[in-house]
Amino acid sequence: MIINDISLARKALLNDDVVAIPTETVYGLAGNAYSEKAIRKIFALKNRPFYNPLIVHIASVAQLPTIAKDIPALALQLAATFWPGPLTLLLKKQQVIPDLVTAGKDTVAVRVPNHTVTQQLLRELDFPLVAPSANPFGSISPTTSAHVFQYFNDAIPIILEGGPCIKGVESTIIGFEGDVPVLYRLGAIATEAIEQITGPLQKVTHAKNQPNAPGMLNRHYAPHTTTYLTDNVWQLVQQFPNQKIGLLLWKEKAHEQANVYSITLSSTANMEEAAANLYASLHQLDDMHLDVIIAERLPDSDLGKTINDRLQRATQQW
Ligand code: TXA
Ligand code: MG
Repeated sequence: MIINDISLARKALLNDDVVAIPTETVYGLAGNAYSEKAIRKIFALKNRPFYNPLIVHIASVAQLPTIAKDIPALALQLAATFWPGPLTLLLKKQQVIPDLVTAGKDTVAVRVPNHTVTQQLLRELDFPLVAPSANPFGSISPTTSAHVFQYFNDAIPIILEGGPCIKGVESTIIGFEGDVPVLYRLGAIATEAIEQITGPLQKVTHAKNQPNAPGMLNRHYAPHTTTYLTDNVWQLVQQFPNQKIGLLLWKEKAHEQANVYSITLSSTANMEEAAANLYASLHQLDDMHLDVIIAERLPDSDLGKTINDRLQRATQQW
């Protein structure tokens, strides 16, 4: 059920149940970070493999030392700049954090979400919340309560209403090798903004299928409809005559064509607006029973990089 009552959500969480919560990035599937029972429910509901660790959500930076230790000065600087907000830090974990949360790693992912509803909920709890995105493993992330309901129906008894997510793509994940900052996942904060504080970010390197951040799994965030990503949408459209085509365009409006339905991410070429519209647009196209979705690649800078990254993972690999 989609509800507004934060106290009901709190009660469910105290009872080791899971609750869908709004954040500024995407909706999360939340449980008590110290409750193995709640954590197992989250993995089961999402059909998520246990090797894929969860993000711990805290109310404020003041709680950070209970979660993490040996925190680099640069991490504190990033937290001071971007929290509450869509930045996740990978830090050495404190022992209280269950191995289930971190997939047995000695690092924990942590962030302070910037959403009034979830902020209030976190302040009323005396434990942090683990929350992966509230979608089945590998599918498009939810940016409205309706998306969450569409995926899970009553398997999640409480979905807290928080309106459409303002950022619309997941948090940026930064880790550290010694004092060197490492980019683990592109996200809602552009790397350019982070690098103003950190200097150049190192890119994470990992073996295929053993990713450090499985947000980096090749195929992820995927619609059911076959999806392509291209620089030249109209050229690709020609290759699907007599098919129902969905177009996801960066800034132009499509000219009318009988077999083509199109969505423009930002008619003013605003990347933040495009990011906010990205998943809702993919959900909409995917629900239309089209033969194919063709997405247009954005300029490869700022949030364009994040959007391209998600679209790349949404497309068929061949
Ligand atoms: O914006 C977000 O971050 C949203 C909202 C709900 O907060 N959450 C989210 O969670 O995107 P999830 O579970 O869909 O993605 C978490 C990512 C995964 O790619 C996971 O592998 C990575 O964080 N991660 C978590 N802990 C990690 C760790 N200790 N080391 C490396 N990667 C980690
Ligand atoms: Mg996810």
